[in-house]
Amino acid sequence: MQDSVLSALYEQALQAAAHSYSPYSHFPVGAAVMTDDGTVFTGANIENRSFGLSNCAERSAIFAAVSAGYRTITAIAIAAPAADYPVGPCGACRQVISEFAAGDVPVWFGNTAATAVHTTVAKLYPFDSLHELAK
Ligand code: THU
Repeated sequence: MQDSVLSALYEQALQAAAHSYSPYSHFPVGAAVMTDDGTVFTGANIENRSFGLSNCAERSAIFAAVSAGYRTITAIAIAAPAADYPVGPCGACRQVISEFAAGDVPVWFGNTAATAVHTTVAKLYPFDSLHELAK
């Protein structure tokens, strides 16, 4: 996949962060996922005053794609503009990502576009859990 495509996806993730509902952490995150026909879905973190119910941006974006009927994600971008370093997806999100994205799927995550980390699903989640379970 071309860097220009991923760079545009990162910008969409950054725009999605503007819709974050994060009054408790004050830490907005946006995510953008591309599906197998090129359609992009975005999501933001959505917190709750019962803190454990908060949902990360990555899962918001993936659940939007799956809710629209998609099952295969081909690229992922995550933007955490309030951070002072690139923030990678949490463990729970890595497991959810692995349900819908193959190991070679590119993942860009950053606090700024210039310092974003460019990696893959397999590098983020090398010992993928429960893949032996039949669908
Ligand atoms: N958060 C995300 O949405 N994605 C990440 O990759 C890291 C953390 C959210 C969860 C919570 O709303 C806030 O950032 C602070 O942890």
